[in-house]
Amino acid sequence: MNSIKFLKTGLVPKTSEAMKIKSAEFIMSNSNVKKAPKDRIPEYAFIGRSNVGKSSLINMLMERKDLAKISGKPGKTQLINHFKINDSWFLVDLPGYGYAQVSKKKRVIFQYFIENYFKEREQLVCTFVLIDSRHDPQKIDLDFMGFLGENNIPFCIVFTKADKLGSSKLNKQITSYKKQLLYYWESLPTSFITSSKTNLGRKDFLEFIKEINLELVNDF
Ligand code: GTP
Ligand code: MG
Repeated sequence: MNSIKFLKTGLVPKTSEAMKIKSAEFIMSNSNVKKAPKDRIPEYAFIGRSNVGKSSLINMLMERKDLAKISGKPGKTQLINHFKINDSWFLVDLPGYGYAQVSKKKRVIFQYFIENYFKEREQLVCTFVLIDSRHDPQKIDLDFMGFLGENNIPFCIVFTKADKLGSSKLNKQITSYKKQLLYYWESLPTSFITSSKTNLGRKDFLEFIKEINLELVNDF
């Protein structure tokens, strides 16, 4: 059984004020973690299958249409993209995994630089693993969560595209997903349900980040 490294903040806080986004600035793209920005500020990464909605979620959270580049075709984000938020923390948009159309050679390179990013990025405080709300657990996602667990990298699960299911189907699907996760993990990580179309989940998500940033204020 794997065990999840919990963040100090295990639950979504109950404060009512949504975090205000005063600035959201694209800093750089690269394929080498060593060239990533040197600022010692908390960093949050978005990962998941190609087309799951990583870039859309970043735009939804930041209330910006095209801060991160979106496409209907999988494989749009191909590099490590750093965005600096409110001059005090980073959001990182990463390429998706599991996109069959990318050539095998390219896929190996993706895996290598993504793996290096996760192993070497000291500022990384939480990784959001995005899962399409409509899908049952898939090996590639479970393997990726296993990799994070083995490397002691804290993560949360984000169920995306919630608008594509009716609410009872959505609840049923997510309950079933979590139940299946418990075959592999002894406890469940914090999770969020989001829609980049309806803004569902935005406030809780930003509150979660705000709370961690506050807790880490003396560590950075
Ligand atoms: P890659 O960069 O290729 O790995 O994809 P990605 O995970 O960044 O996905 P992206 O945000 O580019 O979105 C992929 C497609 O899904 C786009 O057509 C989006 O409009 C759509 N999409 C993303 N989020 C949502 C959502 O919450 N609801 C709906 N209905 N569509 C969404
Ligand atoms: Mg993308």
